[in-house]
Amino acid sequence: MRIPRRAESTDRSTLAMTFVSAGSFSAMLHSTDHQILYGRRGTGKTHALQYLSDLIEHTGDVPVYVDLRTIGSAEGIYTDSNLSPAVRGTHLLVDTLEAIQDELLSVAFGCEIGDQDALLLALEALAEAASAVKVVGEVEQETTVNGLVESSAGLELTVSPTVKVSASRRKSASAQSRSRRSGIERHHVVFGPLSRALRAIANALRPARLWLLLDEWSSVPLDLQPLLADLLRRSVLPTPGITVKIAAIERRSRFSQPSLHGDYIGIEIGADAASAVSLDDHMIFDNARSSAQEFFGQLFYNHASARLSTMIYQPPPDPESFIEATFQRNTFPELVRAAEGVPRDAINIAALAAQHARDELIDLSDVRRAARDWYLRDKQSVINTNEPARQMLRLLIDEVVGRRRSRTFLLDQLDARQETIDDLYDARLLHVLRRGIADPKSPGTLYDGFAIDYGCYVNLNFKPRDRGGWLNSPKGVPPDEFSRVKEAIDMAKLE
Ligand SMILES: Nc1ncnc2c1ncn2[C@@H]1O[C@H](COP(=O)(O)OP(=O)(O)O)[C@@H](O)[C@H]1O
Ligand SMILES: [Mg+2]
Repeated sequence: MRIPRRAESTDRSTLAMTFVSAGSFSAMLHSTDHQILYGRRGTGKTHALQYLSDLIEHTGDVPVYVDLRTIGSAEGIYTDSNLSPAVRGTHLLVDTLEAIQDELLSVAFGCEIGDQDALLLALEALAEAASAVKVVGEVEQETTVNGLVESSAGLELTVSPTVKVSASRRKSASAQSRSRRSGIERHHVVFGPLSRALRAIANALRPARLWLLLDEWSSVPLDLQPLLADLLRRSVLPTPGITVKIAAIERRSRFSQPSLHGDYIGIEIGADAASAVSLDDHMIFDNARSSAQEFFGQLFYNHASARLSTMIYQPPPDPESFIEATFQRNTFPELVRAAEGVPRDAINIAALAAQHARDELIDLSDVRRAARDWYLRDKQSVINTNEPARQMLRLLIDEVVGRRRSRTFLLDQLDARQETIDDLYDARLLHVLRRGIADPKSPGTLYDGFAIDYGCYVNLNFKPRDRGGWLNSPKGVPPDEFSRVKEAIDMAKLE
């Protein structure tokens, strides 16, 4: 019960000790490539970045970790709808650069890395460059007069002296009876001497590399995210000697958007030398069910040992004996299923199960009750305001649980990209257990293997006075199997 639920509440050296790498994840994270680390809530993004930061420091490089939720001094200025995006964006960019500079000051001078005099000068240059960074807004306006559309891209708001008004263009269009002025405001970023300052910093730190670790990307308002991404793409990503890692929730991220001139601003993932890494996918342990158990066994063992060693207890010698001492036989695999690949959910469910078990070993019914509690407490309410997603979940439950007596189902990968499915996945009400299942009869189609959340399933079958012993039955929750591709759900029919 005492295992912390969020990585930010624990110090970095403890996190470095308790981290468990799922497969090759750690090696991939430590590559010098720019990466975007996607993962749903609680999948371990913060823990991974903190672990990486510790690793970087031990290899003699310089980590700069910035939690984007905590930057800036003025409360709520980025979300203040009374201010224009240009003003909010400018604040965000400048505050981010200041946070990076602050962090660099303490980290780099704390361990006397590189050429300290040159670094001091470069950091001053960075402060100066940061104050010159501006977000500029432009409006595209259309005025229809006698069937002729006059379209002009003009300057709407300027905070910077370096922007030119583009010449207005004329183009003909189909006749319209109304005269209208419409404007879509588009923004771009003016950088000034930022790149030069960054290059000077990277040079001063040489041979050490600077690792910029940005956590909580998705806490930045959606409309400002492409602007921050643009700043990174054009000034930070191209600087040799700097590596950027960004932790984000995929469903709540926007790294790029079209610009006024047919181009785009921000980072196009894949194209701009930045690749995406999915922590969610790394937590799919696929058929090798034992590797999921190994991962979570090690995770609980590491966290529990860190606590136990601060108490008078001797930690158990290995994960197996720890699990034997806490769970009844065959119960831990059920906890792993209930966790659905999300470490924070695993920790919360285990804590609730431990409460139910009191001073007995944790058994199947404790885990099932706990999974249900956690579903009701944390997951269910998320889609309360999202009617299409709720409707979709209801349809899926009727079909999969009601008609097929199952918990798992297949979706054509094209269907799996639907917005409502994505919302349910983001809310951890649906999970992907396997990706890219092929149908031998139509090799062009690939399927993803989904499951309805374990706690949600238990809740559907839950009876307060469980006479038949369902809660304790080993077969209570149907197995996670995908065998018959023909059983894929036909979305069109379902809706
Ligand atoms: N690979 C891991 N090894 C050990 N503990 C982990 C791991 N991933 C996540 N955790 C634990 O799970 C909880 C949630 O992780 P956190 O990094 O806060 O999630 P996120 O930032 O993705 O929301 C924390 O208590 C963290 O210590
Ligand atoms: Mg986090």
